Amino acid sequence: MIEQRTGTRPRWPLPTSDYWSTPFAESLLQQLNLCPGASILDIASGHGIPAFYLAEQVGATGQVLAIDLSECQVESARAIQGGQLPWLRFECLDMRVLPQHLPRFDRITGNLSVMFFRPNRFEAVQGLVEHLKPGGQLALTFPSLGTFGSLWRRIDQEMAVRGLLAERRRLEAYLAERPSATDARGWLDRLLLSRIVVAEYPLEVATGAGQAFLHHPLLRGGFLDDAYECFEDQSVAEEVMTKVSEDAESFRPLIAQRCVLSAWKR
Ligand SMILES: C[S@@+](CC[C@H](N)C(=O)[O-])C[C@H]1O[C@@H](n2cnc3c(N)ncnc32)[C@H](O)[C@@H]1O
Repeated sequence: MIEQRTGTRPRWPLPTSDYWSTPFAESLLQQLNLCPGASILDIASGHGIPAFYLAEQVGATGQVLAIDLSECQVESARAIQGGQLPWLRFECLDMRVLPQHLPRFDRITGNLSVMFFRPNRFEAVQGLVEHLKPGGQLALTFPSLGTFGSLWRRIDQEMAVRGLLAERRRLEAYLAERPSATDARGWLDRLLLSRIVVAEYPLEVATGAGQAFLHHPLLRGGFLDDAYECFEDQSVAEEVMTKVSEDAESFRPLIAQRCVLSAWKR
């Protein structure tokens, strides 16, 4: 639950201009039990969604350590922070192999994090749970299997029409690699955590057709680049993706599954 510490508006709200991280973070906050004075490890912290918000909520008696693998992300988060919220620290660390000397935390959060746990996803979650205090909560989000299913089906159909067998196999392998809500529940069950919640909230991503789709600020540089990578020949990729983009009606609404997992260490 989101508990506002005071009746006043947060100074570090989730950015309303972010149409991907913020909706995922909102789902995470729906499940997170936040209280002043808590110590939080925020993994895959990026530019600080939701680390800044969390830091404001736990207040000066709390601690937030926000970690990201990318030095660049850490630097830009630090630049945003300036000298504010001194109980919030951004560090460059790999969430899959946390150093032993790291303390244990009351909460471990990670918005849009689980997809980067590969190759050993279960071991990554296990490593996180080792850094939770007894009675502590883990709350993570990711776009689960099923995200943009209508688009992948349309791309596969276009590949099939052209007899692109190797490309179809690569697309299939790419999709099989995406963790599902059921996989996530399985990890939490295996770790004997309690009060397990795994929920999926659909999020519609609006898109036009043609170039508006191919250069969609949210899809390009992520999901669409993954599709292009399935092709041996990038000129064929361009042809297929252009054809798909012109038929946007066939894959709209474009739905992402915001999967949230929450569980408590006994
Ligand atoms: C999709 S972004 C999410 C950032 C932020 N939490 C948000 O919601 O905007 C994923 C972040 O995970 C980071 N990342 C990827 N692999 C990581 C790893 N092994 N350890 C820590 N961070 C990692 C990336 O550098 C990137 O900043």
